[in-house]
Order: sequence, then structure tokens, then C-alpha cells
Amino acid sequence: MSDGGTALAHVLGLFACDGSELAPGGQRIGALAAAHGTPLYVYDLGVAAQKVALLRRVMGPDIGLHYAMKANPHPQVVRAFVELGLGIDVASGGELSVALAQGADAGGCSFAGPGKSDAEIAQAIDAGVGSINVESPRELEKVAEAAAAAGRTANVSLRVNPAQQVRKSGMRMGGGAQAFGIDAEQVPAVLARVAALKSVRFVGFHVFAGSQNLDAEKLVTSYRGSLEALVELMPHAPHAPTRINLGGGFGIPYHAKDTPIEIAAVGAGLQALWAEFQPHFGGAQLHLESGRFLAGECGVYVCRVRDRKVSRGTTFLITDGGLHHHLAATGNFGQVIHRPYPVAAVTNLDAAPSEEVAVVGPLCTPLDTFGAKVPLPPLAEGDLIGVFCSGAYGFTASPRGFLSHPEPAEVVVGEITP
Ligand SMILES: Cc1ncc(COP(=O)(O)O)c(C=O)c1O
Repeated sequence: MSDGGTALAHVLGLFACDGSELAPGGQRIGALAAAHGTPLYVYDLGVAAQKVALLRRVMGPDIGLHYAMKANPHPQVVRAFVELGLGIDVASGGELSVALAQGADAGGCSFAGPGKSDAEIAQAIDAGVGSINVESPRELEKVAEAAAAAGRTANVSLRVNPAQQVRKSGMRMGGGAQAFGIDAEQVPAVLARVAALKSVRFVGFHVFAGSQNLDAEKLVTSYRGSLEALVELMPHAPHAPTRINLGGGFGIPYHAKDTPIEIAAVGAGLQALWAEFQPHFGGAQLHLESGRFLAGECGVYVCRVRDRKVSRGTTFLITDGGLHHHLAATGNFGQVIHRPYPVAAVTNLDAAPSEEVAVVGPLCTPLDTFGAKVPLPPLAEGDLIGVFCSGAYGFTASPRGFLSHPEPAEVVVGEITP
């Protein structure tokens, strides 16, 4: 019988335990589940703070860090990252409102994302967002018009879609034809417009090549490719940029055989790259925006076994949580082949797995499956199961059709030391 693999061992190492029971933020998971009900998302700010400290340590003091709050826009989670001194990358007007309400400085926010609405653009200009990352030539014109109408100057970066692709990213968002960013070959003309438009101020460039990358070497190679592409654009810039934002995309191990990204190697590689490339960009600061790496591992989705049954030799644990709350862990968000997230018996972590069971949710669809062969100790009705790595891109409001199922509770525990 295999255990839960490297990914489970890795993520468990980030949490406190009370005996053999998971104790996020020092609170026993059984007590949290009893107090808040299940299904329940628990976000441990202490784990998030560990990840920030790690990223800071490996990136050094000169690389600016942003939290991409699309990963987890829970207000208390966002507040923690703000208090830890990170800038916030927002992807909608709603996110901007949350960030500002949680104390983020608008000047330290960036706003990326295709298809920004007129209202969102106006909101960002009004708030004084530090960098509106423009995703298309047309969007630049909209930003300029809105700024002119408001009698303001909008801070803009151009999001560049380089020709190169990043291989080894779970989700590729740069290279080839993309909804995101402006193709590098179109950028000189757009920069000429930036120079001509009175109501926009050029901040710099943004490149986001892809998410969920676990290969340090490939990632650093892709950063080199991005920087080389940007250097070629520099002669067209109206003036020296103040910010070069290379995105992030640092992955976390989700699946049994995934190994954690060698983040120290990414840090060393990036610092060496920046030492080489910074002279091409004048006094610009290098920025990174990370979501999953910072928030993903702080979250556990806790559900309770409602039924245990055997069907033709397969044991099913039917839980009260499922795809209606957690598209990603059930393999319904971007996975071609469903590989399970780390799953464990959170009130008895010392018990060795002794059976492989199917862990499924309560919806009438075979898509509602956390894993078909999950190694677990024998669990019975009423026991708790934790789905780890659920702090980023997990929560999904119930889509229509599943509305009869209640929303999950959410609770934030733990402390940070800014
Ligand atoms: C523009 C942008 N920045 C940052 C992120 C965060 O990426 P990750 O969670 O991989 O760090 C994303 C994710 O889609 C993104 O689109």
C-alpha cells in the first residue's frame, strides 16, 4: 500500500499537529469542524506567512513581491499578505475593492486581466492603481480615454505575450496565440501610442508565462526568454521603465509524485539574471506576483464521511463535500487526467494507510470524485477527511443546478508576524 506520496508529506510538514490530529493555527481540526460545520475551508495564516518568508529569503531584498489575490481573495487572507508587506495584484474591480478595504496601498497594486470593464478601468484610475497592466491595443485606448475624462493620468504597463512558450507549466498563459497580453511584435506600435497619449504614464512591462511550474530550471530559462524579449522592446519605450513584472507561476506539489519546486534555485537564478539584465532597464525594479505558491498550501478543505459502502469490490467514502465547492481537487478545473490532491485522515494522521478507497462527493455525477484509489486508514461514517493544497483556486460558488447543496463555511486561523 502506497502512502499519500511526497506532496502529502510536504504539505503536512507546514502544519502544526496536536498529537496525531491536524491543528492549523494551533486549533484542533475536529474542534474547528464541530464549531463551523462541514464542509469547511480552513486557511492557516501561519502557513501563508511561512511561504512569504521563504520567497523573500530566496528572492533577496531587491525583488518586489506581490500577492496575486485571485488565488484566494478571502479578505482576511488578503489582509495578512498586505500586513506582511506585499503589494497586491488584482484581476477585477471586486478584487480591487477587497484589497483596498484590507489596507492595501493602491500605488502598490497592479491590475491585470483581459476584458476589464469600463467601470473597472475607471475604478482603477480613480483609486490610483500603481500599474494597470494593459492586455490589448484597444484596452490602452480605453484606459487613456477614461483617464482623460477623469482629468487623471493612468499608470500603465504593457503585458507582453512573447513568442516563446514555457514548457513544464501546468497552465500556459504566454507564447503563441493568447487572450492575455499584447503580442511582442505589436508592442512597438502600442508603445508609440503610450508615448503619444497624454493621459497615460508608462510604468513598465508585465509578462506572465504560465502557472503551476515545478521545474526551477525551465522557469529560470523562461524568465531569461522574457527578459530578452523585453530588451528588444526597450528602444521603443517612451522612457526607462520603473517596473518589470515577470509574473510568478511557482507551483506547489499536488499529486503523489510531484516534488516541490526548488525555489532556492529559482531565487538564485533570478537574482543572477537580474544582475545581468537590469542595466538594460535603467533603474527599474523587478517584480514577481505569486498566488498559488503563497496561498495554496495554507488551505485544507475538510469534509465529513456521510457513508461508507462497497460496490463490487470498491470501497467508496461518500463525503459531504465535492466539486460544487472544489472544482480543482475533483479534477474539473484544467486537468486532463484527474490526479488526486493530497487527502488524509486529519484527526488521525499517525494511522498508516491500509486500504485504497474511492473518495467521492454527494453530487449525482461521476465527476464528483476526489480520488479513485486514495490510500487511507479505515474511515467510517462521521470521520473527517482533509483535502490539502486547497488554499488557492479551490473555492467555487455553487453553480446553478447544485444550489441545493449548501455553501461551505470558511474559517481563518493562525497568526502572522509582519
Ligand atoms: C496575471 C497573473 N498573475 C499572477 C497569477 C498567479 O499565478 P500563480 O498562482 O501561478 O502564482 C496569475 C494566474 O493565473 C495571472 O494570470
